[in-house]
Amino acid sequence: MTVFRSFCFATLLMASTFTMANRCHAQEKDKTPSSDENKRYTFRKEHDPNGIGKFYLGREIAHVMGHLGIGWLERPERENEERLSVLVKGLKIKPGMTIADIGAGSGVISVLLSKAVGEKGEILAVDIQPEMLDALQSKCKLLGIKNVKGVLGTTKSPGLEEGTVDLIVMVDVYHEFDFPYSMLNELAKSLKKGGRIAFVEYRLEDPKVPIKLVHKMSEAQVKKEALVEGHHLKYKETFRELPRQHVVIFEKE
Ligand SMILES: C[S@@+](CC[C@H](N)C(=O)[O-])C[C@H]1O[C@@H](n2cnc3c(N)ncnc32)[C@H](O)[C@@H]1O
Repeated sequence: MTVFRSFCFATLLMASTFTMANRCHAQEKDKTPSSDENKRYTFRKEHDPNGIGKFYLGREIAHVMGHLGIGWLERPERENEERLSVLVKGLKIKPGMTIADIGAGSGVISVLLSKAVGEKGEILAVDIQPEMLDALQSKCKLLGIKNVKGVLGTTKSPGLEEGTVDLIVMVDVYHEFDFPYSMLNELAKSLKKGGRIAFVEYRLEDPKVPIKLVHKMSEAQVKKEALVEGHHLKYKETFRELPRQHVVIFEKE
C-alpha cells in the first residue's frame, strides 16, 4: 500500500498539467483513414472545444486524454467518486479469464482486474500512448503483479488475436476513439464466442455528473454504436450500481 501511495505521489507530481491533445506515434501512423471508413464520419468546423470536430452517428468524438493526465486517473478520491471496486464485482469475473483492458492508461483498472482473474488469468492492457504503458508497467513491477501484459495499439486496432478474449473492459475510453467503427469491429473480432464487452461511460443522462459533455455518453448512444451491423454484438445488460457511470454490456454472437 505504501509503495502504491508513493507511486501515486510521484505520478501526481509528474502530472500537474492535464492536456487532452497529447498524441503518440502509434496514433500518427493512422492519421489518414481509408476512404471507406471515412464515409462513416462527418466533420464540422463549429463544435465543442473538448471534441475533435469529427462526428459518428450524431456524437462528437472527444480529445484523447494525454499522459500528463495520469495524476487525475490516479487521484486518491477516485474510489469514492467512481466505486471501481463495485464495478469489478459487477463484471462477474471468473479466475483464469483473459481480459482486455482497453485504454488502460496508467493501469488503475488493470491492477484491480489482475486480482480478480488470479494467477491463471491474464490482463491485456492496451493503450496507444507508450508513456501510459510505461507508467502501467512500472506500477505492476512495484506491486509485484505478473499477469498484466502491456500492448501498444493504434487508433484503429488494439492488435489483439482473433477469438482469444473472454471480456473487454473500456473504462472512460470509448468516447475518445478516433475511429470508433474500426476499433469496435477489431475488438469484437478479438472476443471468443459468448465473450463480453463492457462500455463504462459517464452518464450523459445525468446533469449532476461533473464531466465535460463530450466525455459522457448516453446508454442509447452506446447501444446505437455497438449494434451497428458487422460487429456481431448483441445487448446483454446494463449495470447501474455506480455513482457516475453506467456499464453497458454486449455479448459476441
Ligand atoms: C481517460 S483515460 C482512461 C484510462 C483508464 N481506463 C482509467 O480509467 O484509469 C483514456 C485512455 O484511453 C486511451 N485511448 C484513447 N484512444 C485509444 C485507442 N484507440 N486504443 C487504445 N487506447 C486508447 C488514451 O491513451 C488514455 O490512456
